[in-house]
Amino acid sequence: MSYPYQFKSLDEYKVAYKKSTEDPSGFWSQVAENFLWRKKWDKTLQWNFTEPSVKWFEGGKLNITENCIDRHLEELGDKPAMIWEPNNPEDRVRVVTYNRLHKRVCQFAQVLKNNGVKKGDRVCIYMGMVPELAYAVLGCARIGAIHSVIFGGFSAQSIADRLEDASAEYIVTCDGAYRGEKIIPLKDVIDDALIGNKTVKRVIVYTRTRTPVSMIKGRDVWWEDEMEHAESQIEKDNVVSFPAVEMDAEDPLFILYTSGSTGKPKGVVHTIGGYMVFTAYSFVNVFQYQKSQVHFCTADIGWITGHSYIVYGPLAAGGTSVMFEGIPTWPDAGRFWDIVDRHKVNILYTAPTAIRSLMGFGLKPLEGKDLSSLKVLGTVGEPINEEAWHWYDENIGKGKCPIVDTWWQTETGGILISNMAGITPAKPTYATLPLPGVEPLLVDENGVEVKGNPASGNLCIRAPWPSILRTTYGDHDRCRQTYFSAYPNLYFTGDGALRDEEGNYRITGRVDDVLNVSGHRIGTAEVENAINMHSGVVESAVVGYHHDVKGQGIYAYVIFQGTHGDETSRRNDILQTVSRIIGPIAKPDKIQFVAALPKTRSGKIMRRILRKIAEGETSNLGDTTTLLDPTVVEAIAGGKL
Ligand code: PRX
Repeated sequence: MSYPYQFKSLDEYKVAYKKSTEDPSGFWSQVAENFLWRKKWDKTLQWNFTEPSVKWFEGGKLNITENCIDRHLEELGDKPAMIWEPNNPEDRVRVVTYNRLHKRVCQFAQVLKNNGVKKGDRVCIYMGMVPELAYAVLGCARIGAIHSVIFGGFSAQSIADRLEDASAEYIVTCDGAYRGEKIIPLKDVIDDALIGNKTVKRVIVYTRTRTPVSMIKGRDVWWEDEMEHAESQIEKDNVVSFPAVEMDAEDPLFILYTSGSTGKPKGVVHTIGGYMVFTAYSFVNVFQYQKSQVHFCTADIGWITGHSYIVYGPLAAGGTSVMFEGIPTWPDAGRFWDIVDRHKVNILYTAPTAIRSLMGFGLKPLEGKDLSSLKVLGTVGEPINEEAWHWYDENIGKGKCPIVDTWWQTETGGILISNMAGITPAKPTYATLPLPGVEPLLVDENGVEVKGNPASGNLCIRAPWPSILRTTYGDHDRCRQTYFSAYPNLYFTGDGALRDEEGNYRITGRVDDVLNVSGHRIGTAEVENAINMHSGVVESAVVGYHHDVKGQGIYAYVIFQGTHGDETSRRNDILQTVSRIIGPIAKPDKIQFVAALPKTRSGKIMRRILRKIAEGETSNLGDTTTLLDPTVVEAIAGGKL
């Protein structure tokens, strides 16, 4: 079965695209009518990109969990909303029906209420990939609290910064999380993050790994105890209910922190109505989702991909979403294929870095795995190279599954540029065409639009789509400066792109100081700040370089002063420092100790040159005459050879 807002042919796509540009309000109000609103909106769209101020479906009242759960109960109550695959394939799979999801979300909303959580409060969620994470997210949404999920790979320091920025009063966590053979002691990390914290009143701890934890009296409570208590409050005569709090369309739904070109991660804020409409719309159109299909997005819910395409998009569409606790290479590199086989997955959505890494294991892990249920494949997070695209197409899709290359960002909330499976043509390495409702354009460095095809330039968007970020938490001017000031009246993505003769977009990568390492966004300034925390480091400069599996690797040039240890131990100390300050995902792949960094006369580090040296292009360093001391470059380049 399809959806009223699903395009079923290239012609329908074209008609929709035309309508969306001519009459955006008419187009989006037609889509939005397919959702459950307690009160219909008064005005579909009001916006300017100067403040910026964007309001979709203003005056509309709703609760997103009624859309993701309650309205499906009659038809889909006994159907799976989520299929949870545990870290260890020998453990029990948990199938969460819509009825069960409803009960658990109501129950957890009651827990939040019992613990004093109110509409608008910030709840930080730091959990492994267990169904309870989804219950926590949706429980917040049901009560109108703002969730801020933090990826389990971030350090105590990163969490502390985020807790402070969001002035969060509540935390939901686990004792620990399984990742392959490892156990990550999440509660311990939270305890470290809370040293010196003044805002957090309550920590709710779910038991997953039975890792010993210290429970602080008056602050920490067990999930299981709280849920048991709440059960009798929400269930009477076999009827489960927890009244969903009525929210405005423009009330915040969540904050998600992401890296930018400056040191401090930003809290991207998404609001309820627009985010709901756009995630469901993009989900059913890009993947051409059909009711009762099984969708497997391999992302972690700690990133935007998990928010939009494990939780909200699929559930708003009444879909079945697979949630995977483990990692693709444990117990062996056939894990994804095993999951596809056992759960009869129809749509597989993953990152190019995962494909490249699995390619490295050859075809053996595929032996004996039945992948015939697959209908659509997707990629996200970074540009996909031709080799990985063809490997995915031939060996996983067996040449019969369209591959959607979906381009989007934490800030965009949902997919903006992508082919639509089987509807619009794919082109390897191209994200291809915008979704109806999205108007991309390319501009040159002076902000002048580059018209005609083919073209290249910086990728901007001309007008808002429903799930555009509304602000950066607590600092609206930062939002304006980061996204809306480079080019007046345009949203600037930070990406560069090419456009071919047919208007297909190919994203070439970030044009700012943001790296994309294994599909994770990491700011160079953030890594430099972390390296500089080491007492022996005088200064550092971080750049990206091509990495066969990760897409980009992190290359750090470090000026070290001090006599402590040899080079190997200094290197290890720096890695340890970065791990502690940000998390293991930000550890440099290469560290080069240098005596000085190349700087212009005004003191700016010439990253262009450092990038070339990191790529090994030392014979062609370009113009170095503006440098304060050109011999520095020779020394660095020489040190590398
Ligand atoms: O550079 C683009 C790259 O990932 C960035 C956004 O990262 P993040 O906010 O962490 O969200 C990732 C998941 C949506 C973009 O600015 N990116 C994302 N998708 C693609 C991509 N680059 C090329 N092709 C893509 N399909």
